Amino acid sequence: MSEETKYVELCKGINGLDKIILREVRGCSAEVYLFGGHVTSWKNEHGEELLFVSNKAIFKPPKAIRGGIPICFPQFSNLGSLEQHGFARTRFWTIDNDPPPFPTNSSNKAFIDLILKHSEEDVKIWPHRYEFRLRITLGPGGDLMLTSRIRNTNTDGKSFTFTFAYHTYFHVTDISEVRVEGLETLDYLDNLKNRERFTEQGDAIVFESEVDKVYLSTPTKIAILDHERKRTFELRKDGLPDAVVWNPWDKKAKAIPDLGDDEYKHMLCVEAACVEKPITLKPGEEWRGRQELSAVPSSYCSGQLDPVGAFSSEEIGPA
Ligand code: BG6
Repeated sequence: MSEETKYVELCKGINGLDKIILREVRGCSAEVYLFGGHVTSWKNEHGEELLFVSNKAIFKPPKAIRGGIPICFPQFSNLGSLEQHGFARTRFWTIDNDPPPFPTNSSNKAFIDLILKHSEEDVKIWPHRYEFRLRITLGPGGDLMLTSRIRNTNTDGKSFTFTFAYHTYFHVTDISEVRVEGLETLDYLDNLKNRERFTEQGDAIVFESEVDKVYLSTPTKIAILDHERKRTFELRKDGLPDAVVWNPWDKKAKAIPDLGDDEYKHMLCVEAACVEKPITLKPGEEWRGRQELSAVPSSYCSGQLDPVGAFSSEEIGPA
């Protein structure tokens, strides 16, 4: 990257929508649309795309973008009266030029602060005032970090309650050759069985049919192993106890208009979430939820099938 190349660039994306490109010195990058506060691209230093975005994704509001990292707020899925996954993913966010103090690592230069606030329209469907600040950072080593700070700014003394997810679509080479580690033996709610509660068996999770599960109170670290590409994604999370795992498989994929019939083979959603126990904030209170993603060659972790061993020793500290 030349001296003049910007770490943060505001430009136009598909259909003229405002987009921010984050770049780091070694060549990795990320892209964020103000529509949805939505990360749509995360590339490593070789320019390889690490997130899945459907070829049929519709970059036209008010339809949420199929792929990348949609933000589900204030409602995950259909667990309430709002539209599926809440409205944050279909609203226009703005750049927050003056965010409240945010302790940061001074080596992080490629980051952007976004904000979403209640609108008069949204107050009619969700009668609360809030400030949702989202910082998206591309670390010098290519890690992608998202931190959400949600504050209750109600002036009527009322608390509010929400559920939340970073609905990350990972790009995988072949879903049949993917394994997820870190969720073994946990309880989960099966969305395909009326959210009945089950306990996962002892083995790493593999995929041979539709999956739509909410794993409860998971460890802070989850590994997604793409055997064919010999790549391991590491997901670290804080403030988000649950993890949703979703792949629609062939039949459901055909029923989703903005997903190609065979694209389910190349995507896996593993979503850092807070679903089972919703968060309640009193006026003036703030909640923080963070996820960090990295992608490393699988050989890096070979022989360390214990997902704890597969991660760097760096823990998620206060943001
Ligand atoms: C997942 C849910 O998080 O998102 C699934 O668990 C849902 O039930 C999927 O089908 C996709 O949702 P949407 O609204 O983006 O099509």
